[in-house]
Order: sequence, then C-alpha cells, then structure tokens
Amino acid sequence: MESSPHHHDTGSRAANCVVEISIVTLDEVEQNWPNWATVLEPAEIAKAARFVSPEDRRRSGVSRAVLRLLLGNRLRVDPGEVRFSYNAYGKPELPENLNREQLFFNLSHARDVVLIGIAKGHSIGVDVEWLGLDATFGDLASGICSPQEFADLAGLPSELRLPELLRYWTLKEAWVKAIGQGLSFPHREIQVQRRVGPNGTATYRVRGNDSWTPVTIDDLSGYVASVVIGANSATVRRQPARWPRLRARDR
Ligand SMILES: CC(C)(COP(=O)(O)OP(=O)(O)OC[C@H]1O[C@@H](n2cnc3c(N)ncnc32)[C@H](O)[C@@H]1OP(=O)(O)O)[C@@H](O)C(=O)NCCC(=O)NCCS
Repeated sequence: MESSPHHHDTGSRAANCVVEISIVTLDEVEQNWPNWATVLEPAEIAKAARFVSPEDRRRSGVSRAVLRLLLGNRLRVDPGEVRFSYNAYGKPELPENLNREQLFFNLSHARDVVLIGIAKGHSIGVDVEWLGLDATFGDLASGICSPQEFADLAGLPSELRLPELLRYWTLKEAWVKAIGQGLSFPHREIQVQRRVGPNGTATYRVRGNDSWTPVTIDDLSGYVASVVIGANSATVRRQPARWPRLRARDR
C-alpha cells in the first residue's frame, strides 16, 4: 500500500519525507524466522530477560530482532551487525558515524503487534495501542486530553469516543517519540486537532504545527496506530518484512 503524500500548504519550503512502515505480528516473526534470537546482543537478551511475564520477554526480544532485520536490510549489513546509540531519554538511534544515509527510525509494540517506521533525513515517532483496553472514555480522557480535545471527543457518537481518544493518544505518543522525549512530556499539552473532510475521512494536526506530519494507520484490526514525521509532508510506503532465508538446520 502506498498512501498519497500528506501535503500541507504552509507557504514554507516543502520537505517531503519518504517513510517506510512495517507492521508484523510476533507469531509471524517466529513462523518465518525461528532463529530470530541469534541476532540479539547480550545487552538486548538481558533486557528482555528482566521482564517478569513470558509474553513481555518475547515481545521485547522479537521486536528488537525485527528492528535489526529491517535496519540491516536498509544498511546492507547483517541484522546482528546493526549498532545502536541512545539519547538521554533512552531513544534508540543509529550512531552518527554509521548513518551516512541519515536514517531515523522508531518502534512501538502492543500485545501481538510490532510497528516500525524508518524515515530518511527526518525524525519519526510511531505508536500502536490495543483497542481492547478494559477502560472507558471517562476513565482515560482527563489524563490525556486538553479541555478543547475533551469537548471535541465528547461530541462524537458514543461508540467512536474511546477509539478516537486512543487515536489521539497514539498521535501524542508518536510526537513525543519523534522528538525523542518519553512520557516525561505532559500529554495534555500536545494539542491534537481533528477535521472531517467532505468524504467523511478524518485528518489530524499535532500541535497546530505543519512542521510535523501525522499519519494514521486504519487497517489494523483491534489496534490503532499513528506515525508522526518531522517534515511538512510525507509519502508513506508499507514495507513487508523480508525474512532471512532459512538454512536446512534451522527448519
Ligand atoms: C518511550 C516510551 C514513551 C515508550 O512507551 P510505551 O508505550 O511503553 O512503548 P512503545 O512500545 O510505544 O515504545 C517502546 C519503544 O520505543 C523506543 N523508545 C524508547 N525510549 C524512547 C524515547 N525516549 N523516544 C522515542 N522512542 C523511544 C524503544 O525502541 C522502545 O522499545 P524497546 O524498549 O523494546 O526498545 C516510554 O517508555 C518512556 O517514556 N520512556 C522514556 C523514559 C525516560 O524518560 N528515561 C530517561 C532516563 S533513561
């Protein structure tokens, strides 16, 4: 799938960014790439092992292996050879001296789904959330929304309120992850605006600011996901994972 470019007429010089988005499930990775764990570094294995639940351990390890696979394909190195550096808030990045192409990436995982975005020359943040949360709009809204957002969402039909609130959450989270800060940033200060076009499709703006392009992902059953790119327009391509060829002894 290739989405049309998300252009915003800001009057400023356009900076279009090509973004590759990959979405995989944990089961899909294990079926297609049974020896995924062999590409992890000791620190990544240790990090995964620190989780108490087996599901969290698996999610941590598998998602890091897929990230290595996708970045390795782009950089033309083996997945195990990809190196990471981390900013002050723990955001994984490619070390400057090994990043001639100026690739930016970000990862999010929720339950069984891993979402990875790779952008050239512009920062990117991604977030996926599971829609089956045991919570109501009322439980969550005041912690996430500004008064204006609350009013906008409360005016929607009741069945849309919670999914749209979670969409706002993913947009705010993706923006915070694009700038590289974590949850330390107060989410109520990241204003999301929703506009419905003549064809009924909703589009979004983050922080009333066209230097960020938000892209929503709407075809994931049971999940909601968003991507925010630090450019005033973006062309998004869905990139299927290319699994390493299995050697006979790994089958
Ligand atoms: C980043 C953060 C927002 C992720 O929230 P989440 O909804 O639990 O998780 P997601 O699945 O969407 O994203 C997690 C991934 O984002 C990436 N990530 C981690 N820190 C990040 C940051 N500061 N900015 C952007 N991305 C980050 C990682 O790839 C991480 O996956 P991994 O832990 O398996 O490597 C949250 O963990 C956070 O606030 N971290 C910052 C903590 C901090 O401020 N530390 C300072 C001292 S180190």
